[in-house]
Amino acid sequence: MNPYQQKKRWKYLLLSFAVVIASGSLLYTSYLVKNIAHSERTRAQVWAMSMRQLFNSDDNDFLQFTTSVRDSLTVPAIIVDEKGDVILSRGLDTTKTFINLPSDGNKKKYDPEYFKSELAYMKNQHEPIRLMVLGAPWKVYYKDSPLLTQLRLFPYIQLTVIAIFLLMAYTAFSSSRKSEQDQVWVGLAKETAHQLGTPISSLMAWIELMKEKFNAEDDVLVAEMENDVKRLEIVADRFSKIGSKPVLEEHAVYAVVKDFVDYFRVRVSKNIGFEMGGNPHLKAGLNVPLFDWVIENLLKNAVNAIDGKGSIKVEISGNKLKNQVFIDITDTGKGIPRSKFDTVFQPGYTTRKRGWGLGLSLTKRMIENYHNGQIFVKDSEVGKGTTFRIILKNTRDDKKAKS
Ligand SMILES: Nc1ncnc2c1ncn2[C@@H]1O[C@H](COP(=O)(O)OP(=O)(O)O)[C@@H](O)[C@H]1O
Ligand SMILES: [Mg+2]
Repeated sequence: MNPYQQKKRWKYLLLSFAVVIASGSLLYTSYLVKNIAHSERTRAQVWAMSMRQLFNSDDNDFLQFTTSVRDSLTVPAIIVDEKGDVILSRGLDTTKTFINLPSDGNKKKYDPEYFKSELAYMKNQHEPIRLMVLGAPWKVYYKDSPLLTQLRLFPYIQLTVIAIFLLMAYTAFSSSRKSEQDQVWVGLAKETAHQLGTPISSLMAWIELMKEKFNAEDDVLVAEMENDVKRLEIVADRFSKIGSKPVLEEHAVYAVVKDFVDYFRVRVSKNIGFEMGGNPHLKAGLNVPLFDWVIENLLKNAVNAIDGKGSIKVEISGNKLKNQVFIDITDTGKGIPRSKFDTVFQPGYTTRKRGWGLGLSLTKRMIENYHNGQIFVKDSEVGKGTTFRIILKNTRDDKKAKS
């Protein structure tokens, strides 16, 4: 199994584990809530019965008993008579149950609106408890105690807090892992450039000496050799650029891309046609050695995707409003399934027998980290072809802004 399938498997495993924990927590709390709600109803019933006794008799001892029952009742409740008028309430917000009416000489009165809204709320929550008092059918409405209300909310608050915590931990870990990867990547590139540097400059010197010694200024073999050494020098230069923050220079994107396409097209099979188009004037900040590398990776992938005859089209366009330059590379190759549009950029992902799966991941780094741009699969259809799009910042207006 490749590391990406493995990673996916782990993701699903962890996700299902999280779902099990969350639903377990919800189920258990709902079990607790049900039990407490049941016991609150029982208490409300006991209170209602004691009230009935109180109203139906005039036993003084009983009055004391009902007072202690009332104190043990934790649920807010309201008793209404058969017409729906409030007889008695308990456990409600007492600052709101009374209002001051200056017209009544500041005598305290019930606020009917408050009772109305409380009653409506209670009616919604629980079936009333019915009792007969002095031959009249009264009803006791009650609502959940504050404790129960909190308990109902508790699992959601708890799970939200845990989710936020996990998200933060994940972000912290993955960003530290990413910076570790960056260090390895950059370190290796620097070391490679450094190690290649010395033999390449010697080779250059040897070639010069050879030309002099054998009078081989125009010799084809020597020229080819010189070309290859120059190529090696470019490779070393690319690696050294990756190892340090490269300087961006303003270039016409079309010209830079065209130079590379012209260099590239003569080196691949004649079955593949190349086409360049678009706006030749758009400019962007480029580091040419690295940008060539990007184009090379994309063109190589396009060539690899084409089986037999096909064509590759490179188009430069722009969005004036957003100050962007687009470079679209379209091939008529095997295409990429939609589910893999992001995956192709991950290091190690390859569908080629001899591939390393590093090309696009490196390309993405070079575009994002070194050119402050974006790259993505713009379009692709399996069996028909693919378009990769690079977005760079158009520098023309940048300058205006600075001056
Ligand atoms: N133009 C394209 N058309 C179809 N598939 C592509 C194209 N470019 C990239 N891919 C897919 O993305 C994978 C990763 O590409 P890359 O990172 O360059 O690694 P490699 O070329 O070594 O496989 C390729 O193996 C291929 O499956
Ligand atoms: Mg590749």
